[in-house]
Amino acid sequence: MNTFIGLAKSRHSVRNYEGKTVEKEKVDAILESGRIAPTAANQQPCKFLVLETQDSLKKLERACNPHGASLVIVVCADKEISWVRPFDGHNMLDIDASIATDHMMLCAQDLGLSSCWITYFNPEELRKQFNIPIDLFYFLKEKNAG
Ligand SMILES: Cc1cc2nc3c(=O)[nH]c(=O)nc-3n(C[C@H](O)[C@H](O)[C@H](O)COP(=O)(O)O)c2cc1C
Repeated sequence: MNTFIGLAKSRHSVRNYEGKTVEKEKVDAILESGRIAPTAANQQPCKFLVLETQDSLKKLERACNPHGASLVIVVCADKEISWVRPFDGHNMLDIDASIATDHMMLCAQDLGLSSCWITYFNPEELRKQFNIPIDLFYFLKEKNAG
């Protein structure tokens, strides 16, 4: 598998992990691949929360099912930073965050690690467990405001 298409085809969602510790060099490479992902107007609105201790993974289980993964990256983004298209006010936040996520998943695959994208989580619980600033959870901010 030496081609990009080979790498992309080999990736698939895994929902049953061995729980082995991920080496620091691999974690660093995955985060770097997310950091360098393109963002609209190069605004770079994403923040990555890395969960790898038993304590943090236990807390995470209150918000979602991490399927026994030993490493979870929570992808957040700040809607005040992401670029807004002036014609219609469309905010590119979700697109930026999705590209960064996909970069990291493909990087993980390239390093021999499986992954699974999780959107089935309780946002209020996740924010509470890790004291994540409300600015990084724009949908909760807007819900509370409205
Ligand atoms: C935006 C998005 C959200 C997803 N949310 C979840 C999720 O909450 N839980 C889950 O188990 N899989 C989730 N997935 C994984 C999809 O179910 C999976 O990518 C799809 O079924 C295709 O299978 P594959 O990844 O093995 O190619 C999500 C994928 C995407 C792109």
